[in-house]
Amino acid sequence: MLDLDFVRGQFPAFAEPSLEGWAFFENAGGSYTCKPVIDRLFRFYHERKVQPYGPYPAAQAGGAEMDEARSRLAGLMGVATDEVSFGPSTSQNTYVLAQAFRQFLSPGDAIVVTNQDHEANTGAWRRLAEDGIEVREWRIDPVTGHLDPDALAQLLKDEKVRLVCFPHCSNVVGEINPVAEITAAAHAAGAFTCVDGVSYAPHGFPDVDALGCDIYLFSAYKTYGPHQGIMVIRHELGDALPNQAHFFNGDVLYKRFTPAGPDHAQVAACAGMVDYVEALAAHQGVTPGEVAGLMHAHEVQLMQPLLDFLGARNSVRLIGPREAVRRAPTVAVALQGPAAPVAEALAAHKVMAGGGDFYAVRPLEALGISPAQGVLRLSFVHYTSEAEVAQLIEALDRVL
Ligand SMILES: Cc1ncc(COP(=O)(O)O)c(C=O)c1O
Repeated sequence: MLDLDFVRGQFPAFAEPSLEGWAFFENAGGSYTCKPVIDRLFRFYHERKVQPYGPYPAAQAGGAEMDEARSRLAGLMGVATDEVSFGPSTSQNTYVLAQAFRQFLSPGDAIVVTNQDHEANTGAWRRLAEDGIEVREWRIDPVTGHLDPDALAQLLKDEKVRLVCFPHCSNVVGEINPVAEITAAAHAAGAFTCVDGVSYAPHGFPDVDALGCDIYLFSAYKTYGPHQGIMVIRHELGDALPNQAHFFNGDVLYKRFTPAGPDHAQVAACAGMVDYVEALAAHQGVTPGEVAGLMHAHEVQLMQPLLDFLGARNSVRLIGPREAVRRAPTVAVALQGPAAPVAEALAAHKVMAGGGDFYAVRPLEALGISPAQGVLRLSFVHYTSEAEVAQLIEALDRVL
């Protein structure tokens, strides 16, 4: 069982007087930052904030810490160190990758995108249609939001598809998609896969090697870290895609899809995300790879009462599965009116939540929900307590 006191002790926000009494339910927008990351940022700016990799100690320490971040994240996700790279955000990373695919693919080739994704993993890809690439949409069930792997099989049948882009978990539907199964189907049809893990990674770093996907993306600032996008690109694909960086950096995989210089301090501080996972694993007596299971078990236990409460209200439409085990605790509900004023009303009860479209305009439209009206989204992670969920449910009972 997760030791919540230990967990919360790793996040300075829980000891911050101005946040006392506030229950945080907008984690899918951006999580609290863990202490090792904050400490590393502080140290970098105090001691190492010079051009890294130079021939003097401060530069060497800075460069070594940036390398450490990549190698330790790679270790956690089961990939090679040079298969991990950084960019300013996931949206920017997919944008760069889409430019690479624009050059890589030929007219007549097809790609698959979903209408379950956040815009970051669909808009940039859809623009490849301008260059003669056929864009096929893998559509969600308009009632449940579910993505059916059988429907993908139909889209892959003629073997023209070279790339399938889909989310590990949507930021409004919350259902966890079977990445390994989807990737196996795509590979069998000769397609690569690009997985948006932004809404999933905060609930446990994935074993990307076991998932089998060719690209896995997530955002450090939603995963207890600084504001960076992290991307895993496996060698087979990364070496084949055209270089998007300075020509002389093209033979180094982790530089190929980072056209601009990365934020050195933030890249280095990402090692603190792994410090946190390892400290938690050591405290709990499990391996770092087993931390995800502990997080999931805690989240499921807290989530089911919330899903039961929302599912029983006639005035709200709960999006995604009602069984906690099938989803991440990113719980969106459509209301009879606009969601933003309800989020505001929750703030009066010291509940931090959001109302809006969350850049999931396509999924909301597919579900028949007006993006202007939006959804109320209640998202939490493993550091959330039972008392905070109770505070949320009590506040919802008053404002809904
Ligand atoms: C599922 C999902 N994908 C992608 C993104 C975009 O991430 P970034 O802000 O790093 O561009 C978000 C951000 O909200 C998201 O929730």
